[in-house]
This record gives sequence, structure tokens and C-alpha cells, in this order.
Amino acid sequence: MTFHVFSFARPSLHQSFLGLIVLTVSVLSSSLWASTTPPDSPQCKTDKNIPNKAMHCPDQFAWEVFIKLNQPRDGLPSWHSFATDQDTFPQKPVPSVCSTSKASPDYCPAWPKAGRLLPIEQQGPSKSHHAPIDSVLDPFLTNVELVQRNKASFDYIVNNNLWYQQGLAKAFSTDFDVDFPVEAIEIKTNWVDLAQIDKVQRDTFHTVKYDGKQWGLVAMHITTKDLPQWFWATFEHVSNPGRCDWLGCRDSFGVTPAVTQAKKPLYGYYQAESINPALANMMESVDPVFRNYRLKGSQVDFVDDTGTPTLLGNSVTEFGFIQNSSCMTCHARATVNWQGQNGLGGFGNTPGGQATDGLPTAGISAPQQSFSGAPDPRWYTGASGNQQLHTMDFLWAMPFQAQSAYDSIKEAKAKSP
Ligand code: HEC
Repeated sequence: MTFHVFSFARPSLHQSFLGLIVLTVSVLSSSLWASTTPPDSPQCKTDKNIPNKAMHCPDQFAWEVFIKLNQPRDGLPSWHSFATDQDTFPQKPVPSVCSTSKASPDYCPAWPKAGRLLPIEQQGPSKSHHAPIDSVLDPFLTNVELVQRNKASFDYIVNNNLWYQQGLAKAFSTDFDVDFPVEAIEIKTNWVDLAQIDKVQRDTFHTVKYDGKQWGLVAMHITTKDLPQWFWATFEHVSNPGRCDWLGCRDSFGVTPAVTQAKKPLYGYYQAESINPALANMMESVDPVFRNYRLKGSQVDFVDDTGTPTLLGNSVTEFGFIQNSSCMTCHARATVNWQGQNGLGGFGNTPGGQATDGLPTAGISAPQQSFSGAPDPRWYTGASGNQQLHTMDFLWAMPFQAQSAYDSIKEAKAKSP
């Protein structure tokens, strides 16, 4: 079974207009309780030995990770060398042929060779990561997404057989605790065909040439296992239309002003915040083009001190459901069932989403919004209280990308002596 469940049917203009009204109503009520991760502790500025930086200084920590990931290696930011979903989850998994060093990447996970260009044109299942709002409102119609992971994360998935459904089913039946190593990093980037961007603006983007086209980076999600429930942050190109819509932009470390409030009308341009000296200093070690990116915010807990759900989303990646977007809550729903298949579906009423008794089926609750706040134990157990779903340590890649092991291994054997 494949899970190309992101393919929302585009509604007609009329339908989507109705949808928008519903969204607006839900957002008005939700914004009353929306909260965000608190700013960095004032101590972060002076104390070099803060014991738990990710927790106490999340914004500073987010930039440190960003700068580290963007350190040049062979002329490109180091994350370019990370494995993609396509490298990790072959479409026709044949685990029995993967022990040899010559195993074909068609059947086995393969860490990318040095110097490989990012396969930007890949329009995998994650491409249409959009709620069903009319496309005319989508500022970047042809934006494509790419998911990548570092070696620690890749190795964990491969060594524990979490890269195909039968392996995931075994994790379910043996109650294997999916718990990534603390070094694990996962990123998701969004790119636009630069032809869409005004000529004078083009050199403000980090770009990649692939397949005769130039692609510009507009959004970057980062999650790292520095915290048991992962550390979450998202970055945007400074000129993204609607960059701070709905939730505002918050960076208590890197820029002034630290908070840019959301404004109306939507999809307007937001003034570039100026970069603080401490961040400018850090930026010295990376390509100056990254001065055109801003931290949208970071997230380290489901709720704030009052139990109010925290929210974070990127104007590009979470377009259409950013209003209630909570990285942590939606990702807490990444699960598989006893067959090693997607437990709670992706978005909307998807075929994989009927696992629990009558509860909403996806990362987005009606009307097409993200869940937020602390996870609901019933998501995982159903009413009976017996475990029906196995959690994936916040990573959606396994339920979304893992395929069923290929029945006929003939073809594989022929290719992988
Ligand atoms: C409503 C659900 C939802 C929300 C909210 C959400 N994500 Fe995701 N995310 C997904 C799904 C589904 C995938 C896997 C499919 C894909 O690649 O798009 C994913 C993939 C990812 C990945 C690749 C690793 C993985 O889990 O497979 C990263 C990194 C990521 N998201 C970060 C974030 C960050 C940071 C935020 C908040 C700013 C966020 N996400 C908000 C649903 C969500």
C-alpha cells in the first residue's frame, strides 16, 4: 500500500471560499488561546555555561544549529550531503539483498555519494503539503519539498529495519521503543523555481542548480534530538509573502525587533528585521546569502506554563493550516499500526486514517487544521485502551515513506550480485 495521501483535491473556488470562512472563524477563536515558546532566558546573553541550551535559549540554539548545518563542505552547506527520503526509503524494498556492499539503491537504503546534487525536482508524496485552500492564495505554486536526515538518523532507521513496512510491523509486535540517538537531525526544505522570482531578488536566495533549473530556498524546518521530544525550529526567506501572518515571527536572539506581529491583509511583505551583532558574528562562517533568512520561531514543549498550546508553523510549509500549527503535536501523531502502516493518516480523511475509533483521523482536525497542545492518549489506544498504534518518536517519514517489501526478489538479485 502506498501513502500518497497528501494529494488533496483542489476544491473549486466556491468551495474553497466557504472553507476559508470556516477557517477564519476557527482561527479567530483559536487565536485567543494561541501561545508560543517563551523567549530565551536573559542569562543566555552572558552565561556561556547554560546547562540545557536547547531548553533555556531555544532561539539562540536554533541559530547555532542553522549555522552549523550551513558550514560549507566542498563549497556547499553541509546539509546538502544528508540522505533524502528517497535515499532512505526505497520504493521497492528488498531487505534480503541489502547486506552486500553492492546492493542496489533501488532496493536498499543508500547513503548518498559525495558531491551528489540535491535532487530538487523530486516531487514525492510530501509535495502538496497544503490544506485544501484555493491555489490562487498559494504564493508559491510550484514549491517543492525535500526531506533529509543526517547519518545518525539515517543509520538508526536502517539498522533497526524501520525503512520498510514489515520491519515496522516487527517493531510493533516486539514493542521496540523507537527512540532516535541524541545526534539525530532531520530537515525539510521548500524550494521555488527561481524563474518565479523577480530578477533583482534572485541573488538573495540560497540556490541549487538541478536539471537545468535554478531553485531558491524559501523555507527550512529543522528538528534535532537534543531534547527527548526533539527541538523544533523553522526558518524563512525574509521576503516570503505573508512570512509572519497569523502567528507572528519570534526571534529573541538574532534580530531586532524580536517580535514582528502578524498583520492583515494576508500575504503582504514584512519589513526585514535587522540582524543583531551576536548573530552577525556567527554568520561570518557561512555564505553571506544566509543573512536573507530569518528564524520564524522555535518550539520545545506542547504547552506553555498555563497549559495553553504552543504554536509554530512556516508560512510556506504549513501554508493553509499554519493558524493552528504545532510542530510537536502533529508530529506526535506519527505512528504505525500492526502492519507497519501509517496509523493516524496524514491530513484529511485518508485511507490510512481509520485506525482509532471515530477520533479525527489526521494531523489536522476539522476544518483542516493541525492538532495542538498535549497529545491525546486515545489517539494511540482507541477506546479499548489496548495499544493499537506504535509511536515513531515524532518522525513522519516512516509512516509516510516506508513501502512494503517487494514480493519478487528476482529483479533485485539480478542487479545486486
Ligand atoms: C499538521 C501536521 C504537521 C505540522 C503542524 C508540522 N509537520 Fe512536519 N511533517 C508532517 C508530515 C506529515 C511530514 C512527512 C511528510 C513530509 O515529508 O511532508 C513532516 C515532515 C517533517 C520533517 C522531516 C522529518 C519527518 O518527520 O519525516 C521535519 C524536519 C518537519 N516535518 C519539521 C516540522 C517543523 C519544524 C514543524 C513546525 C514548524 C512542522 N514540521 C509542522 C506533518 C506536520
